[in-house]
Amino acid sequence: MSEHILPDRRRVKAEPDAVQHYTQRKPAKHRAEMALVARAFPALPPGSRALDAPCGAGRLSQWLATRGLRVSALDLGVAAVAHTRALLGADDAEVLEGDVFHLPWEDRAFQAVVCFRLLHHFEDRARRRALVREMARVCDGYLLVSYLSPWSFTGLKRRLRAALGGRRHRQNHTPLSELVADLKAEGFQLDRDLAQRRFFHSLHLARFVRKSR
Ligand SMILES: C[S@@+](CC[C@H](N)C(=O)[O-])C[C@H]1O[C@@H](n2cnc3c(N)ncnc32)[C@H](O)[C@@H]1O
Repeated sequence: MSEHILPDRRRVKAEPDAVQHYTQRKPAKHRAEMALVARAFPALPPGSRALDAPCGAGRLSQWLATRGLRVSALDLGVAAVAHTRALLGADDAEVLEGDVFHLPWEDRAFQAVVCFRLLHHFEDRARRRALVREMARVCDGYLLVSYLSPWSFTGLKRRLRAALGGRRHRQNHTPLSELVADLKAEGFQLDRDLAQRRFFHSLHLARFVRKSR
């Protein structure tokens, strides 16, 4: 379990409006992100356990459920949890309110764990390390983590703008080498690194696999 880290409440989808807003993102962007998840996700036997954390409005949880996986989902936002529960029909899905830094599951509980669109919110390296460590703790197989690559047209453009005194982008770019090092320490190795469009989009989804299984 990671050291105690207080969540940043500004990032939490506690209100129904925030969840509604997220479900109304640009359809093309949503489709491209889900296509990235579909490309990166491993083929697992039906009934395998998969964790989606944080689940937000539940779009990944819903997709995982359609693959025959036993889905668990978690988010700190009350409204996000309610929305995901309703979406999944809740009979055989476990959707919990909780903090990604303190996951309420035992070690190696899941065959796959996905953490999509959260890491880039953390500017502090120690927080990013604590996040991936906690995800790794509950993962017995594949761990998928999204990050914003600094080596993309969009990433370079944002950094140049900030260097020239323009608006600093709120989202943080992370080199893949940082994730590889932090997850190597937890017994994982990089299996794949996929981007929506390499060298153009900064959003990547890295897939790691536990070495000792
Ligand atoms: C950008 S959304 C991404 C949701 C989902 N993965 C997706 O791609 O649709 C980020 C989510 O992280 C949740 N969140 C932020 N900090 C959290 C924390 N410490 N623990 C659990 N959830 C958190 C927010 O409530 C929000 O629903």
